[in-house]
Amino acid sequence: MSKSVAKIKNIKLINIRQILKYKHMKKTKILVTGGTGYIGSHTVVELQNKGFEVVIVDNLSNSHIEVLDGITEITGIRPTFEQFDLCDSEKTKNFFTKHNDIDAIIHFAAFKAVGESVEKPLMYYRNNLDSLINILENIQLSGIKGLVFSSSCTVYGQPDELPVTEIAPIQKAMSPYGNTKQIAEEIITDFINVNPNSKAIALRYFNPIGAHKSAKIGELPIGVPNNLVPFITQTAIGLREQLSVFGNDYNTVDGTCIRDYINVVDLAKAHVVAVERIIENKTKFNFEVFNLGTGNGSSVFEIINSFEKATNQKLNYKVVARRAGDIEKVFADTRFANEELGWKAEISLDETLLSAWNWEKYYRAKKSLLNKE
Ligand code: UD1
Repeated sequence: MSKSVAKIKNIKLINIRQILKYKHMKKTKILVTGGTGYIGSHTVVELQNKGFEVVIVDNLSNSHIEVLDGITEITGIRPTFEQFDLCDSEKTKNFFTKHNDIDAIIHFAAFKAVGESVEKPLMYYRNNLDSLINILENIQLSGIKGLVFSSSCTVYGQPDELPVTEIAPIQKAMSPYGNTKQIAEEIITDFINVNPNSKAIALRYFNPIGAHKSAKIGELPIGVPNNLVPFITQTAIGLREQLSVFGNDYNTVDGTCIRDYINVVDLAKAHVVAVERIIENKTKFNFEVFNLGTGNGSSVFEIINSFEKATNQKLNYKVVARRAGDIEKVFADTRFANEELGWKAEISLDETLLSAWNWEKYYRAKKSLLNKE
């Protein structure tokens, strides 16, 4: 072989090595739908902290674009953002053509207000199911490794046995919202059955609360909050006059309902573990389901007491009639998630409630500053 041929071969080899090195360096790219929402934004932070590249799709129907600033301030990285409605199949298809290097998807984007879903059932079925079907169609077309789906403990209804395990029977949904979660899990099951190269994990959340410890992102309900903790923090800051405790005549320790409240950052971290499990081919079944909770049940009064203790605030509340559709008690059996995912909720209830309060204060202060400008 002449010297010049050897030289050319050498250059080619170096180039190939460089390309391989570059390929190796390409970050794993995750699509986070609903990434400017409450759980979505906290998950984007944890993904970016672990070196994933994130692209967010959100139509901002229930979130604010400023959330991207909070994510950027915490992580130093501004995620790619595309604003459109995933129910639009043409736009969804175009998105996947443009971003043809997505490795996996975490799908949060959905409506989630129980009461509203009773009022507007078709809006809920259309929004929560059309978007899922569009995403699955594109998974099929583009060879994406899989999907982590945002599900809820609402699928269990009032379970016969507590703590509730993943094999507890699914009960008839109490609301169209709950039904969309059940139907979505069924759609994913049927899809995975005929697309075994794709994997899916449904994460059934108990009650996510709290905010990032930096207070730069948190829960931001539009209008009057339906959920307990945002209502508490808005009452404490003076936006609401009084918290109504819905019933104190349940068969529980102090008569108020019991839930399993989990810190949103702990919850976000579980999503990172789940998506890694899919990418690293560690799933044991093509479709897996995990409960995400702490395993501890807390009553509404316990939450109020813990909030008052952690924040040094006195909360104005009164007991009123039961809320229709409320379940008496539910809390998770977390053993499967703990053992199989190697993940555990770690942040205490006091710390979590303090983080919710710090976020409320930070957000209101920022808002009043902006209004003055
Ligand atoms: C509900 C849904 C759940 C959904 C979640 C997120 C049901 C059974 N569960 O959870 O599927 O994923 O919202 O939106 O519908 N409470 C008060 N006063 C208030 C607000 C709440 O006392 O102003 C009490 C409730 O009665 C309940 C507890 O606080 O006992 C938690 O309520 P909430 O935060 O609304 O969550 P869930 O109803 O458990």
